Amino acid sequence: MSHNSFGHLFRVTTFGESHGPAIGCVVDGCPPRIPLTETDIQHDLDRRRPGQSRYTTQRQEPDQVRILSGVFTDEKTGVQMTTGTPIGLLIENVDQRSKDYGEIRNKYRPGHADYTYDVKYGIRDYRGGGRSSARETAMRVAAGAVARKVVPGLVVRGALVQMGPHRIDRSRWDWDEIGRNPFFCPDAEAAAFFADYLDGIRKKGSSIGAVIEIVAEGVPPGLGAPIYGKLDADLAAALMSINAVKGVEIGAGFEAASLTGEENADEMRLGNDGKPLFLSNHAGGVVGGISTGQAVVARFAVKPTSSILQPRLSVDRFGAETDVVTKGRHDPCVGIRAVPVGEAMVACVIADHFLRHRGQVGETTPWPMGG
Ligand SMILES: Cc1cc2nc3c(=O)[nH]c(=O)nc-3n(C[C@H](O)[C@H](O)[C@H](O)COP(=O)(O)O)c2cc1C
Repeated sequence: MSHNSFGHLFRVTTFGESHGPAIGCVVDGCPPRIPLTETDIQHDLDRRRPGQSRYTTQRQEPDQVRILSGVFTDEKTGVQMTTGTPIGLLIENVDQRSKDYGEIRNKYRPGHADYTYDVKYGIRDYRGGGRSSARETAMRVAAGAVARKVVPGLVVRGALVQMGPHRIDRSRWDWDEIGRNPFFCPDAEAAAFFADYLDGIRKKGSSIGAVIEIVAEGVPPGLGAPIYGKLDADLAAALMSINAVKGVEIGAGFEAASLTGEENADEMRLGNDGKPLFLSNHAGGVVGGISTGQAVVARFAVKPTSSILQPRLSVDRFGAETDVVTKGRHDPCVGIRAVPVGEAMVACVIADHFLRHRGQVGETTPWPMGG
Protein backbone atom coordinates (compact mmCIF):
# COMPACT_ATOMS: atom_id res chain seq x y z
CA MET A 1 0.00 0.00 0.00
CA SER A 2 1.71 3.19 -1.14
CA HIS A 3 0.86 6.82 -0.38
CA ASN A 4 1.41 6.88 3.34
CA SER A 5 3.39 10.13 3.25
CA PHE A 6 2.31 13.75 2.93
CA GLY A 7 4.04 17.13 2.80
CA HIS A 8 7.13 18.21 0.90
CA LEU A 9 9.76 19.80 3.17
CA PHE A 10 7.88 18.90 6.37
CA ARG A 11 7.11 15.33 5.39
CA VAL A 12 5.15 12.88 7.49
CA THR A 13 4.95 9.12 6.91
CA THR A 14 2.66 7.05 9.12
CA PHE A 15 2.49 3.28 9.57
CA GLY A 16 0.56 0.71 11.55
CA GLU A 17 -2.86 -0.85 11.91
CA SER A 18 -5.57 -0.65 14.53
CA HIS A 19 -4.87 -4.08 15.99
CA GLY A 20 -1.18 -4.46 15.20
CA PRO A 21 1.43 -4.14 17.95
CA ALA A 22 1.99 -0.40 17.41
CA ILE A 23 1.37 2.63 15.22
CA GLY A 24 4.04 5.15 14.35
CA CYS A 25 5.29 7.91 12.11
CA VAL A 26 8.44 9.44 10.78
CA VAL A 27 8.57 13.23 10.57
CA ASP A 28 11.28 14.13 8.08
CA GLY A 29 12.48 17.67 7.38
CA CYS A 30 11.85 19.20 10.77
CA PRO A 31 14.43 21.97 11.25
CA PRO A 32 17.10 21.44 13.94
CA ARG A 33 17.36 23.10 17.36
CA ILE A 34 13.62 23.15 18.13
CA PRO A 35 12.97 22.12 21.76
CA LEU A 36 10.87 18.92 21.66
CA THR A 37 9.88 16.47 24.38
CA GLU A 38 7.37 13.63 24.62
CA THR A 39 5.30 15.84 26.94
CA ASP A 40 4.82 18.42 24.13
CA ILE A 41 3.37 15.71 21.89
CA GLN A 42 1.45 13.90 24.65
CA HIS A 43 -0.60 17.00 25.39
CA ASP A 44 -2.15 16.94 21.91
CA LEU A 45 -2.55 13.15 21.89
CA ASP A 46 -4.47 13.28 25.16
CA ARG A 47 -7.06 15.52 23.51
CA ARG A 48 -7.71 12.90 20.79
CA ARG A 49 -7.46 9.86 23.06
CA PRO A 50 -10.49 7.53 23.16
CA GLY A 51 -12.44 6.55 26.26
CA GLN A 52 -12.48 9.98 27.89
CA SER A 53 -16.26 10.46 27.99
CA ARG A 54 -19.35 8.41 27.31
CA TYR A 55 -19.58 10.17 23.95
CA THR A 56 -16.47 8.50 22.53
CA THR A 57 -15.42 4.89 22.05
CA GLN A 58 -14.67 3.02 25.27
CA ARG A 59 -11.51 1.51 23.79
CA GLN A 60 -8.92 2.40 26.44
CA GLU A 61 -5.71 3.40 24.71
CA PRO A 62 -3.27 5.44 26.80
CA ASP A 63 -1.67 6.58 23.52
CA GLN A 64 1.67 7.02 25.25
CA VAL A 65 4.10 8.34 22.66
CA ARG A 66 7.83 7.53 22.52
CA ILE A 67 10.33 9.60 20.58
CA LEU A 68 12.67 7.06 19.00
CA SER A 69 14.96 9.38 17.05
CA GLY A 70 15.68 12.89 15.85
CA VAL A 71 16.26 14.58 19.22
CA PHE A 72 19.31 15.14 21.38
CA THR A 73 19.80 16.87 24.71
CA ASP A 74 22.01 19.91 24.37
CA GLU A 75 24.80 19.41 26.90
CA LYS A 76 25.16 23.10 27.77
CA THR A 77 21.48 23.90 28.30
CA GLY A 78 20.08 20.47 29.19
CA VAL A 79 17.26 21.11 26.70
CA GLN A 80 16.17 18.27 24.40
CA MET A 81 16.09 19.54 20.83
CA THR A 82 15.44 18.32 17.31
CA THR A 83 18.62 17.49 15.43
CA GLY A 84 17.33 17.84 11.86
CA THR A 85 17.32 14.06 11.40
CA PRO A 86 14.11 12.01 10.99
CA ILE A 87 11.92 12.10 14.09
CA GLY A 88 10.54 8.61 14.76
CA LEU A 89 7.43 8.46 16.97
CA LEU A 90 5.80 5.28 18.27
CA ILE A 91 2.61 4.45 20.16
CA GLU A 92 1.89 0.91 21.29
CA ASN A 93 -1.61 -0.52 20.83
CA VAL A 94 -2.65 -2.01 24.15
CA ASP A 95 -6.44 -2.40 24.11
CA GLN A 96 -7.19 -4.44 21.00
CA ARG A 97 -10.17 -6.78 21.19
CA SER A 98 -9.94 -8.48 17.83
CA LYS A 99 -12.63 -11.03 18.65
CA ASP A 100 -15.19 -8.19 18.58
CA TYR A 101 -14.61 -8.07 14.85
CA GLY A 102 -14.86 -11.79 14.04
CA GLU A 103 -18.40 -11.23 12.88
CA ILE A 104 -17.44 -8.78 10.15
CA ARG A 105 -14.44 -10.82 9.02
CA ASN A 106 -16.16 -11.79 5.80
CA LYS A 107 -18.85 -9.10 5.67
CA TYR A 108 -18.62 -5.56 4.38
CA ARG A 109 -19.82 -2.81 6.72
CA PRO A 110 -21.76 -0.31 4.59
CA GLY A 111 -19.99 3.05 4.77
CA HIS A 112 -16.70 1.56 5.97
CA ALA A 113 -13.66 0.75 3.85
CA ASP A 114 -14.09 -3.06 4.08
CA TYR A 115 -15.33 -3.63 0.53
CA THR A 116 -13.01 -1.13 -1.15
CA TYR A 117 -9.87 -2.47 0.57
CA ASP A 118 -10.85 -6.03 -0.36
CA VAL A 119 -11.69 -5.20 -3.96
CA LYS A 120 -8.38 -3.34 -4.33
CA TYR A 121 -5.89 -5.52 -2.44
CA GLY A 122 -7.63 -8.92 -2.20
CA ILE A 123 -6.53 -9.17 1.43
CA ARG A 124 -7.82 -7.16 4.38
CA ASP A 125 -6.92 -6.85 8.05
CA TYR A 126 -10.52 -6.77 9.30
CA ARG A 127 -9.53 -6.32 12.96
CA GLY A 128 -10.80 -2.87 13.86
CA GLY A 129 -10.61 -1.80 10.22
CA GLY A 130 -6.83 -2.37 10.02
CA ARG A 131 -5.15 0.53 8.25
CA SER A 132 -8.50 2.21 7.49
CA SER A 133 -9.10 2.62 11.23
CA ALA A 134 -8.87 6.15 12.60
CA ARG A 135 -6.30 4.82 15.05
CA GLU A 136 -3.84 6.04 12.39
CA THR A 137 -4.95 9.61 13.11
CA ALA A 138 -3.13 9.49 16.46
CA MET A 139 0.11 9.72 14.47
CA ARG A 140 -1.17 12.74 12.53
CA VAL A 141 -1.83 14.41 15.87
CA ALA A 142 1.69 13.53 17.05
CA ALA A 143 3.21 14.94 13.85
CA GLY A 144 0.99 18.02 14.19
CA ALA A 145 2.42 18.68 17.65
CA VAL A 146 5.87 18.88 16.05
CA ALA A 147 4.55 21.05 13.19
CA ARG A 148 3.10 23.58 15.62
CA LYS A 149 6.64 24.21 16.90
CA VAL A 150 8.08 24.86 13.45
CA VAL A 151 6.21 28.12 12.76
CA PRO A 152 6.93 30.81 15.38
CA GLY A 153 3.73 32.30 16.83
CA LEU A 154 1.41 29.81 15.10
CA VAL A 155 -1.77 28.95 17.05
CA VAL A 156 -4.09 26.36 15.52
CA ARG A 157 -7.41 25.72 17.27
CA GLY A 158 -10.45 23.67 16.31
CA ALA A 159 -14.08 23.61 17.36
CA LEU A 160 -17.14 21.48 16.72
CA VAL A 161 -19.68 23.90 15.21
CA GLN A 162 -22.49 21.56 14.18
CA MET A 163 -23.76 18.14 15.26
CA GLY A 164 -26.35 16.52 13.02
CA PRO A 165 -28.55 19.38 11.79
CA HIS A 166 -27.90 21.47 14.95
CA ARG A 167 -25.53 24.44 14.58
CA ILE A 168 -23.95 26.39 17.40
CA ASP A 169 -24.86 30.05 17.95
CA ARG A 170 -21.70 31.81 16.75
CA SER A 171 -22.50 34.92 18.82
CA ARG A 172 -21.81 32.76 21.92
CA TRP A 173 -18.39 31.58 20.62
CA ASP A 174 -15.92 31.32 23.50
CA TRP A 175 -12.61 29.49 22.88
CA ASP A 176 -12.27 28.83 26.64
CA GLU A 177 -15.46 26.72 26.45
CA ILE A 178 -13.70 24.15 24.20
CA GLY A 179 -11.82 22.62 27.12
CA ARG A 180 -14.86 22.60 29.42
CA ASN A 181 -17.12 20.19 27.52
CA PRO A 182 -16.50 16.79 25.90
CA PHE A 183 -17.42 18.05 22.41
CA PHE A 184 -14.76 20.75 21.79
CA CYS A 185 -17.78 23.04 21.42
CA PRO A 186 -17.24 26.82 21.79
CA ASP A 187 -20.92 27.47 22.67
CA ALA A 188 -21.80 26.32 26.23
CA GLU A 189 -25.54 26.19 25.54
CA ALA A 190 -25.09 24.13 22.39
CA ALA A 191 -22.76 21.78 24.30
CA ALA A 192 -25.46 21.18 26.93
CA PHE A 193 -27.93 20.40 24.14
CA PHE A 194 -25.45 18.08 22.36
CA ALA A 195 -25.05 16.05 25.59
CA ASP A 196 -28.72 14.97 25.60
CA TYR A 197 -28.96 14.78 21.84
CA LEU A 198 -25.95 12.45 21.54
CA ASP A 199 -27.12 10.32 24.48
CA GLY A 200 -30.31 9.66 22.51
CA ILE A 201 -28.34 8.73 19.38
CA ARG A 202 -26.00 6.45 21.34
CA LYS A 203 -28.78 4.64 23.18
CA LYS A 204 -30.46 3.88 19.84
CA GLY A 205 -27.21 2.23 18.66
CA SER A 206 -27.01 4.90 15.96
CA SER A 207 -24.51 7.65 15.06
CA ILE A 208 -24.46 11.20 13.72
CA GLY A 209 -22.24 13.55 11.69
CA ALA A 210 -20.65 16.89 12.58
CA VAL A 211 -18.94 19.99 11.19
CA ILE A 212 -15.58 21.11 12.57
CA GLU A 213 -13.99 24.53 12.14
CA ILE A 214 -10.22 25.03 12.32
CA VAL A 215 -8.75 28.50 12.83
CA ALA A 216 -5.02 29.07 12.40
CA GLU A 217 -3.71 32.37 13.74
CA GLY A 218 -0.19 33.71 13.37
CA VAL A 219 0.13 32.49 9.78
CA PRO A 220 2.55 34.92 8.11
CA PRO A 221 1.45 36.47 4.79
CA GLY A 222 3.01 34.93 1.70
CA LEU A 223 2.76 31.20 2.49
CA GLY A 224 1.50 29.01 -0.33
CA ALA A 225 2.20 28.94 -4.02
CA PRO A 226 0.19 29.67 -7.15
CA ILE A 227 -1.46 27.10 -9.37
CA TYR A 228 -0.47 23.61 -8.14
CA GLY A 229 0.80 24.43 -4.68
CA LYS A 230 -2.09 26.52 -3.40
CA LEU A 231 -2.27 26.69 0.37
CA ASP A 232 -6.05 26.24 0.30
CA ALA A 233 -5.79 23.27 -2.07
CA ASP A 234 -3.24 21.61 0.20
CA LEU A 235 -5.40 22.32 3.26
CA ALA A 236 -8.42 20.81 1.53
CA ALA A 237 -6.46 17.69 0.55
CA ALA A 238 -5.05 17.29 4.06
CA LEU A 239 -8.44 17.67 5.74
CA MET A 240 -10.15 15.46 3.18
CA SER A 241 -7.58 12.75 3.92
CA ILE A 242 -8.93 12.40 7.47
CA ASN A 243 -11.18 9.36 7.95
CA ALA A 244 -14.90 10.05 7.48
CA VAL A 245 -14.44 13.59 6.08
CA LYS A 246 -16.82 14.20 3.17
CA GLY A 247 -16.56 17.96 2.62
CA VAL A 248 -14.12 20.84 3.15
CA GLU A 249 -14.68 24.59 2.98
CA ILE A 250 -12.20 27.47 3.21
CA GLY A 251 -13.45 30.81 4.58
CA ALA A 252 -17.01 31.52 3.41
CA GLY A 253 -16.83 28.23 1.50
CA PHE A 254 -20.08 27.14 -0.14
CA GLU A 255 -21.82 30.16 1.38
CA ALA A 256 -19.71 32.36 -0.98
CA ALA A 257 -21.89 31.15 -3.84
CA SER A 258 -24.86 33.05 -2.39
CA LEU A 259 -22.95 36.31 -1.78
CA THR A 260 -22.63 39.26 -4.15
CA GLY A 261 -19.22 40.58 -5.14
CA GLU A 262 -19.60 43.55 -2.80
CA GLU A 263 -20.51 41.32 0.13
CA ASN A 264 -17.72 38.85 -0.51
CA ALA A 265 -14.91 41.39 -1.08
CA ASP A 266 -12.56 41.54 1.89
CA GLU A 267 -12.03 45.30 1.74
CA MET A 268 -8.64 46.72 2.72
CA ARG A 269 -7.58 49.71 4.75
CA LEU A 270 -4.37 50.62 6.52
CA GLY A 271 -4.20 49.63 10.18
CA ASN A 272 -2.67 51.74 12.96
CA ASP A 273 0.66 50.10 12.20
CA GLY A 274 0.46 51.32 8.58
CA LYS A 275 0.09 47.77 7.32
CA PRO A 276 -2.84 46.36 5.28
CA LEU A 277 -5.90 45.66 7.37
CA PHE A 278 -8.71 43.48 5.99
CA LEU A 279 -12.22 44.48 7.05
CA SER A 280 -13.59 40.92 6.71
CA ASN A 281 -12.28 37.42 6.02
CA HIS A 282 -14.53 35.66 3.53
CA ALA A 283 -11.37 34.35 1.87
CA GLY A 284 -10.45 32.38 4.99
CA GLY A 285 -6.97 33.89 4.97
CA VAL A 286 -5.96 32.63 1.51
CA VAL A 287 -6.14 34.45 -1.84
CA GLY A 288 -4.54 33.15 -5.02
CA GLY A 289 -3.35 30.16 -3.03
CA ILE A 290 -1.23 32.45 -0.82
CA SER A 291 -1.85 33.45 2.80
CA THR A 292 -2.95 37.04 3.46
CA GLY A 293 -1.76 37.16 7.08
CA GLN A 294 -5.35 36.90 8.34
CA ALA A 295 -6.51 33.84 10.26
CA VAL A 296 -6.69 30.78 8.03
CA VAL A 297 -10.18 29.33 8.46
CA ALA A 298 -11.26 25.89 7.24
CA ARG A 299 -14.31 23.76 7.96
CA PHE A 300 -14.89 20.09 7.31
CA ALA A 301 -17.92 17.82 7.43
CA VAL A 302 -17.55 14.43 9.10
CA LYS A 303 -20.03 11.71 8.22
CA PRO A 304 -21.80 9.64 10.89
CA THR A 305 -19.87 6.60 12.18
CA SER A 306 -20.63 3.73 9.84
CA SER A 307 -20.17 0.90 12.37
CA ILE A 308 -23.47 0.99 14.24
CA LEU A 309 -25.61 -1.44 16.20
CA GLN A 310 -28.58 -0.92 13.90
CA PRO A 311 -28.62 -3.72 11.28
CA ARG A 312 -27.76 -2.66 7.70
CA LEU A 313 -28.04 -4.59 4.45
CA SER A 314 -24.81 -5.78 2.88
CA VAL A 315 -23.03 -8.60 1.07
CA ASP A 316 -20.16 -10.89 2.06
CA ARG A 317 -16.87 -11.97 0.47
CA PHE A 318 -18.49 -15.15 -0.83
CA GLY A 319 -21.07 -13.30 -2.90
CA ALA A 320 -24.07 -13.75 -0.58
CA GLU A 321 -26.44 -11.10 0.74
CA THR A 322 -26.30 -10.55 4.49
CA ASP A 323 -27.06 -8.11 7.33
CA VAL A 324 -24.36 -6.28 9.27
CA VAL A 325 -24.55 -5.32 12.93
CA THR A 326 -21.24 -3.95 14.18
CA LYS A 327 -20.43 -4.89 17.73
CA GLY A 328 -17.16 -3.60 19.20
CA ARG A 329 -16.65 -0.12 20.60
CA HIS A 330 -17.37 2.93 18.51
CA ASP A 331 -17.82 6.67 18.75
CA PRO A 332 -21.45 7.73 18.19
CA CYS A 333 -20.08 10.95 16.64
CA VAL A 334 -16.56 10.60 15.24
CA GLY A 335 -16.59 14.32 14.50
CA ILE A 336 -15.74 14.99 18.15
CA ARG A 337 -12.36 13.27 18.13
CA ALA A 338 -11.72 14.60 14.62
CA VAL A 339 -11.21 18.09 16.09
CA PRO A 340 -7.56 17.62 17.23
CA VAL A 341 -6.90 15.63 14.05
CA GLY A 342 -8.08 18.58 11.92
CA GLU A 343 -5.90 20.95 13.92
CA ALA A 344 -2.90 18.67 13.35
CA MET A 345 -3.41 18.44 9.59
CA VAL A 346 -3.70 22.22 9.29
CA ALA A 347 -0.54 22.66 11.41
CA CYS A 348 1.37 20.19 9.22
CA VAL A 349 0.31 21.94 5.98
CA ILE A 350 1.24 25.37 7.34
CA ALA A 351 4.61 24.10 8.63
CA ASP A 352 5.33 22.56 5.23
CA HIS A 353 4.45 25.79 3.39
CA PHE A 354 6.45 27.83 5.92
CA LEU A 355 9.57 25.81 5.10
CA ARG A 356 8.84 25.86 1.36
CA HIS A 357 8.42 29.65 1.46
CA ARG A 358 11.66 30.02 3.40
CA GLY A 359 13.41 27.79 0.86
CA GLN A 360 12.30 29.68 -2.24
CA VAL A 361 11.71 33.25 -1.09
CA GLY A 362 13.41 33.69 2.26
CA GLU A 363 12.17 36.79 4.07
CA THR A 364 8.72 38.11 3.06
CA THR A 365 9.01 41.33 1.03
CA PRO A 366 8.96 44.37 3.37
CA TRP A 367 5.87 46.60 3.32
CA PRO A 368 5.16 48.89 1.48
CA MET A 369 6.26 47.27 -1.77
CA GLY A 370 6.21 50.27 -4.12
CA GLY A 371 8.12 53.50 -4.07
C1 LIG B 1 -11.47 10.14 15.23
C2 LIG B 1 -12.19 9.17 14.35
C3 LIG B 1 -12.69 7.98 14.89
C4 LIG B 1 -13.36 7.06 14.10
N1 LIG B 1 -13.89 5.93 14.67
C5 LIG B 1 -14.69 5.13 13.92
C6 LIG B 1 -15.40 4.05 14.53
O1 LIG B 1 -15.32 3.82 15.74
N2 LIG B 1 -16.18 3.28 13.72
C7 LIG B 1 -16.33 3.53 12.38
O2 LIG B 1 -17.06 2.84 11.69
N3 LIG B 1 -15.67 4.55 11.79
C8 LIG B 1 -14.87 5.35 12.52
N4 LIG B 1 -14.23 6.40 11.91
C9 LIG B 1 -14.37 6.59 10.46
C10 LIG B 1 -13.70 5.48 9.62
O3 LIG B 1 -12.33 5.36 9.93
C11 LIG B 1 -13.91 5.79 8.14
O4 LIG B 1 -15.24 6.09 7.89
C12 LIG B 1 -13.50 4.63 7.25
O5 LIG B 1 -12.09 4.48 7.30
C13 LIG B 1 -13.93 4.78 5.79
O6 LIG B 1 -13.27 5.89 5.21
P1 LIG B 1 -14.04 7.20 4.71
O7 LIG B 1 -15.20 7.41 5.62
O8 LIG B 1 -13.02 8.29 4.84
O9 LIG B 1 -14.47 6.97 3.31
C14 LIG B 1 -13.54 7.33 12.71
C15 LIG B 1 -13.05 8.52 12.16
C16 LIG B 1 -12.39 9.43 12.97
C17 LIG B 1 -11.89 10.73 12.38
